[in-house]
Formats: sequence, structure tokens, C-alpha cells
Amino acid sequence: MKTVEIFEGPRAQTYDQSIRIWCPEYDSIQGLLPSLLGYHLGTSETKNVLVVGSGTGAEMVNLLQFTQAWKITGVDPSPEMVAQASEKLKSFPENQCKLITGTVDDLPLEENWDAALSILVFHFLPDDGSKLHLLKSIAQRLKKGALLVFVDIFGAGESFIYNLSLLKALLLSKGFESQLVEGGIEHIKKSLFPISQERLAELIKEAGFGKLHIFMQSLIFGGWIATKLD
Ligand SMILES: C[S@@+](CC[C@H](N)C(=O)[O-])C[C@H]1O[C@@H](n2cnc3c(N)ncnc32)[C@H](O)[C@@H]1O
Repeated sequence: MKTVEIFEGPRAQTYDQSIRIWCPEYDSIQGLLPSLLGYHLGTSETKNVLVVGSGTGAEMVNLLQFTQAWKITGVDPSPEMVAQASEKLKSFPENQCKLITGTVDDLPLEENWDAALSILVFHFLPDDGSKLHLLKSIAQRLKKGALLVFVDIFGAGESFIYNLSLLKALLLSKGFESQLVEGGIEHIKKSLFPISQERLAELIKEAGFGKLHIFMQSLIFGGWIATKLD
């Protein structure tokens, strides 16, 4: 099953500000990604990196600033998010970066990519086959041994509720209005689809990835890296 969560209107226009409220470690996470990829891919040879759900372009800009060796392609179904990313990418050479409005399914079925990033995308997809569909669709387009790096809201049961309460406490302590904070926390509870780390490991394995490692966790956010096996 395929699910697409289109960011449009005010949600797209205010994304760069609101994500930094709701994901307090957003800039640290984004800042970690280039060196994480660099550790595995090196920075001297040409590598093809796919950014799934590239949004307003944060990870693309960070990767392009890190090394000129990689060719970065972003894919996102939201025209408004793609337009914002396109604006940020203007100063980079055209042969180093490309944006596609669409989903991974729209990309050619060729094993082209040395790495794929999916940052803050999977939690929008229900675990009704939609998460697995996207993981498989990415796997089909990666080279053997290629990397998948993903960051998502995750967790289940009491530990998820505990970490969500900590996020709420942090936002209130920063002085954000309680109505805004309550509304956002309810949105996370009711409209997103976090899963436990165990379920996540099952899906990753089923999609054809192995060597799964968690490289960060902060409140409800976690980051993993896995390798395409065959
Ligand atoms: C929370 S934003 C994350 C953007 C960016 N990765 C970042 O970290 O700032 C989620 C993005 O995923 C895109 N998206 C939603 N469903 C998708 C899907 N099925 N495949 C790829 N991207 C999707 C949305 O359009 C949106 O731009």
C-alpha cells in the first residue's frame, strides 16, 4: 500500500520554523548526517545519494556543503516543498543536485544509488503495508551494500508516552503557549504512526536490509542506519 502525506499551504510555508520547535534537535540531527555518510562512503569518489522526502532541502544543502564528490537527488511529492528546496539549491552546480516532484515509485527501477536518506518521513505512513512499501521501493533502487539512513518519531506504549511528555515539558519550559503545545502533542498522538524499535527492525529486515544500528535518540526521535543486503 502506498501512502503520501502532502505538505501544502501554511504547513509547507512555515515548515522551516515549525520543525525546529517540534524537533528540538533538528539542526544537530541534520548536521550529523553528512559526516555519518562520509564515514561510510568517503568523500573522494563520486557517490549517488537519494534524499527521500527532501522537503525544503535541509539535508540536500548540508550534503552539498560537505563534499562536492556526491551527486544528490531529492524526491518529494509536495510541489510547495520542492519549490522551497529549489530556491535553496540555486547556488549549487546543476550537475551536483536534482529535485524530482513525486515519490520513489516514480524513479526508474535501477539499482542506482549508493545511499538513501529518509528524514522524518516514515512516521507519516501507517503500518498497514505503507511503511513496508516505501522501504521496499527504496531497496529496489539501491546498489547492493548501499546505505539507508532514516530518522523518525518512534516508540510504543508507556515509553513513547513518557518521551512525548518530556517533549511537552521542554516546549512549555521554553515559553511556547500551552494551547500550541497541547495541540501539537495531540497531533503527534492522533495523526502520526510511530512504531516500536522492534517492529521497525522487522520491517527493515523484510525490505531486504541488515546491519541495523541506532545512531541517535532524543526524546521521541530516533535515527538508524542499515545496509541493503542483496
Ligand atoms: C516532515 S517533512 C521532512 C522534510 C525533510 N526531510 C526534513 O527533514 O526537513 C516530510 C516530507 O515527506 C514528504 N512525503 C510525504 N509522504 C511521502 C512519501 N510517501 N514519499 C516521499 N516523501 C513523502 C512530504 O511532502 C514532506 O516534504
